[in-house]
Amino acid sequence: MSDRYTLTYEVYKQRIEQAMLGMIPEEPEVFRDGRVPQLLAEAMRYSLSAGGKRVRPVLLLATVEMLGGSVEEALPLASALEMIHTYSLIHDDLPGMDDDDLRRGRPTNHKVYGVGQAILAGDGLLNAAYEWMLANALRYPEHSLRHLRAIREIAVRAGVTGMIAGQCIDLMSENMEPDFERLRYIDRHKTADLLTAPLMAAAFLCAADDWQIRALETFGENVGVAFQIDDDLLDIEGDAVLLGKATGMDAKMGKMTWPAMAGVQEARRESAKLWDRARDAIAEFGPDGWFLREFAEVLSRRKF
Ligand code: IPE
Ligand code: IPE
Ligand code: MG
Ligand code: MG
Ligand code: MG
Repeated sequence: MSDRYTLTYEVYKQRIEQAMLGMIPEEPEVFRDGRVPQLLAEAMRYSLSAGGKRVRPVLLLATVEMLGGSVEEALPLASALEMIHTYSLIHDDLPGMDDDDLRRGRPTNHKVYGVGQAILAGDGLLNAAYEWMLANALRYPEHSLRHLRAIREIAVRAGVTGMIAGQCIDLMSENMEPDFERLRYIDRHKTADLLTAPLMAAAFLCAADDWQIRALETFGENVGVAFQIDDDLLDIEGDAVLLGKATGMDAKMGKMTWPAMAGVQEARRESAKLWDRARDAIAEFGPDGWFLREFAEVLSRRKF
């Protein structure tokens, strides 16, 4: 990992975190017209500020920079995407879903605020994300069509044929007979869609060429599925302290995952194959693709 990569990642991460928390300030009053209720703001900030790798928004900013676009203009979209991801984690941890007690090294949102408020904190993050992206689009009227395309891409990938669809089938498939077609659908949608969204949104924002859009989509889809297989492997072999979440939960819940269906060795092989495909896709960008290339290197070896 080069110093240039580490530094660039850190700079993006700080900008994203600052922007997200700036959007949902601490509220001094319980309730007041035009302000977020104090408890809601606190619950939203609790999960946003708990850390997390910020992989998705970093991908968005890095891709915008690679394509010669404005990071400043893209920052609200990147931060909104991280808010959507954080909402998906709050809901994913609820007792009616994966029933987890620990996330990002802290008690899960519903453990602190109760199930009802955790649902609302998730809803709040989701809605605020769109409010913010739309407000940002209005700030750049000369680029409004580009912004609309990027926002639509995020909406579709996060939506009922994307992440939510994947989560639906993930839940339905607990303790079911192994089925590879179903497994591939789950991984493509519950995870790969939200990792492809930043690449495509960046491409639309920068009015990228067709070949660039195709290469970025291939990169995102392969990174996304590999990322989920690695997450499933880490649930078996990883360190709960490093991960900031409990391990062994997938077996307990009877989740349909690559390691559960094909064994750890085969899951590792599948993940390695997908990371290779991702690297090939990004090779098309030549030296400009340096950040995405290193990103794939680093992420494919992640321990958390
Ligand atoms: C966890 O996502 C959920 C999956 C899609 C596997 P991340 O591994 O990106 O979690 P954070 O954001 O770093 O906490
Ligand atoms: C979650 O997959 C994907 C989401 C859309 C949140 P997991 O359920 O495996 O994620 P973790 O292991 O709880 O982070
Ligand atoms: Mg889940
Ligand atoms: Mg889960
Ligand atoms: Mg998991």
